[in-house]
Amino acid sequence: MTQALVAKDIVAGYVPDLPILKGVSLSAETAKVTVIIGPNGAGKSTLIKAIAGLVPVLSGTVQLNGTDITNPRPDRMGGLGVAYVPQSDNIFRSLTIRQNLDLVLRNAGKDAGSRRDALFAQFPALADKQSDKAGALSGGQRQFLAVAMALAINPKVILMDEPSAGLSPKAAQEVLEYAKSLTEKGVTILLVEQNVKQALRMADHCYILADGHNQVDGAAQDLLDDPVVGQIYLGGKRVTAA
Ligand SMILES: Nc1ncnc2c1ncn2[C@@H]1O[C@H](COP(=O)(O)OP(=O)(O)OP(=O)(O)O)[C@@H](O)[C@H]1O
Ligand SMILES: [Mg+2]
Repeated sequence: MTQALVAKDIVAGYVPDLPILKGVSLSAETAKVTVIIGPNGAGKSTLIKAIAGLVPVLSGTVQLNGTDITNPRPDRMGGLGVAYVPQSDNIFRSLTIRQNLDLVLRNAGKDAGSRRDALFAQFPALADKQSDKAGALSGGQRQFLAVAMALAINPKVILMDEPSAGLSPKAAQEVLEYAKSLTEKGVTILLVEQNVKQALRMADHCYILADGHNQVDGAAQDLLDDPVVGQIYLGGKRVTAA
């Protein structure tokens, strides 16, 4: 078992004296899906952003395949093989689909054309609409474009923040299944999800965050079967103090 990404005791936040993450640790196993769940405001997006170099890590470390990458320059992440799909605003709506892909392929030099063709082959629905404005796509297609843009750099690790947010259950399932299928090619997926049941069914390991702390973690299947997790996150009856 190898861990592609290891975050240890991360304290991070948007302003110096107000940490949002208060010592969070997490590992993402190579070629597996690791999911982060937790209530709104728990710090899930902040954790992903801290790993991606978009929120300063005040203390703690992030390692990528054993090498320290704490507080990376965000524009160096692609070169390290790490792609980040933000929770919102992850495509340029006023550009065409092709222009969106060309933006991320701009450093690919002479390979750009063949990489674009390969992406369109993988996502035929996007290829059919490549001259349309990305803003005209359905929610599910927009997420697939965001994923295609992440894949343009041939990442080994993809950080995805709520890829199924706002999608129909069917589109959400498709996006999650696609993310899962990437692990067969050796890609490591670290995913934030609100859609807890679907996420636990497809993930290998799960971390639950609450108020900037690790609450619970374990094999996704075990958490799916855990009555306490079920009561809190899967629509079961909440336990109330007597
Ligand atoms: N840009 C920002 N500046 C200051 N505080 C922020 C900023 N973004 C988020 N926060 C604060 O950090 C805390 C954690 O937010 P975060 O977005 O990480 O939560 P989350 O678990 O991703 O929630 P959600 O499920 O709603 O996406 C919240 O209290 C939020 O108000
Ligand atoms: Mg979030």
